[in-house]
Amino acid sequence: MDKLEICGGRPLHGKINISGAKNAALPALFACLLTEEPCHLTNVPQLRDIHSALAVLRAMGVHCETNDGSLKIQAAKLHTHEAPYTLVKTMRASILALGPLLARFGQAIVSLPGGFAIGARPVNAHIEGLTRMGATIEVKDGNIVANAERLRGAHLVLPMPTVTGTENLMMAAALADGETIIENAAREPEITDLAIFLNSMGANITGLNSNLLRIRGTKKLSGASHTVVSDRIEAGTYLCATAACGGDVELVGANAEHLQNLLNKLETAGATLAPSSNNIRIVMSSRPQATDAETAPYPGFPTDLQAQWMAVNSVADGTAIIVENVFENRFMHAPELTRMGANIELKRNTAIVRGVDILKGAPLMATDLRASASLVIAGLAAQDTTLIDRVYHLDRGYERMEHKLSVLGAKTRRCG
Ligand code: EPU
Repeated sequence: MDKLEICGGRPLHGKINISGAKNAALPALFACLLTEEPCHLTNVPQLRDIHSALAVLRAMGVHCETNDGSLKIQAAKLHTHEAPYTLVKTMRASILALGPLLARFGQAIVSLPGGFAIGARPVNAHIEGLTRMGATIEVKDGNIVANAERLRGAHLVLPMPTVTGTENLMMAAALADGETIIENAAREPEITDLAIFLNSMGANITGLNSNLLRIRGTKKLSGASHTVVSDRIEAGTYLCATAACGGDVELVGANAEHLQNLLNKLETAGATLAPSSNNIRIVMSSRPQATDAETAPYPGFPTDLQAQWMAVNSVADGTAIIVENVFENRFMHAPELTRMGANIELKRNTAIVRGVDILKGAPLMATDLRASASLVIAGLAAQDTTLIDRVYHLDRGYERMEHKLSVLGAKTRRCG
């Protein structure tokens, strides 16, 4: 199993490109199920999760051609409407097949994703929403079995602003009879990116960027081309790395508008930021000041950057309070950071992080994607060598991370 060795203690300097967003590319791939015509996606990051999504689509008979970051997807005919457990267990975003399959073919079997390292992650809101749109859904042998002669528009009020739930319902509504309103919708930039793609396929979605989406269903969608929005979480991770290590880094393609909450925190922590239309430059010339953060749905502080922010605060001057409000079990990086000398006290969903002068390299275990990123940041900031086990988690969501870090002057090496 691959490990990542990091010789820490050096500032980061240089310029790197930010990749397309994993969490925008995934729904876009499943949206291609909504039409028989070919769709073209560009700026798709080359990641394990994307390969897993392609495996799910191919298993149904979808034609997928990949050429670096460009994909041609055509779901002309399917030989099955099932996303089986063997594939879904590798990537829970396979649940995004449910809405499109049901809307276009009237049937879908998608294995229930089950619990994940960061929490139980139920999909009740997806199921309730589709049921309100006329689907008959039962859970049988661990599978969601859904049928609908034709979905009809409905007024949906989500119990929580779920990201993939909003995406699933928006995709289903695009091919339903009549109008669907989604209240309390999530409004992450990746959802807006999906809505833009769906509209270019002929859907009629309004209320983009807001928590009230209005979707007028249509009988047929056509093929379209779409460039995936840049990955705000990848950009945020490199910003946190620079804040922890010091340095001067430019992130080309990063969208500052999508990261406003983190950028405000970074400024409080002492960073100088120069965002422009298509990039963000960060200069960090002192130890970070401890800065509190509390996660919330967009535009709040992203849960997907909480672990990285904890790594920054582990080496900060002062004490920061970090509250995780989105997932119930997302502090698994904390005990690993503690093994490096961090001073972190956990009380339910709150972490009290008392910054220390130095972290020391140590052997560590990655537990999930963003926890791995936080350990990488701590390793980059630490004295001596850190060896992170199970880095396959990183490959799920960070394109060419070692290469990008080496461009910034970090010393990292992958070993068996
Ligand atoms: N929830 C329910 N019932 C539902 C749906 C969600 O109780 O039916 C709860 C969840 O348990 C959680 C909260 O609502 O407590 C929010 O979950 P959400 O559904 O928004 O999460 P998700 O759609 O499963 C996406 C991202 C995650 C990201 C979250 C929150 C994708 C493919 N995944 O997950 O990304 O953390 O939104 O922003 O878009 C990652 O990239 O590392 C990652 C985990």
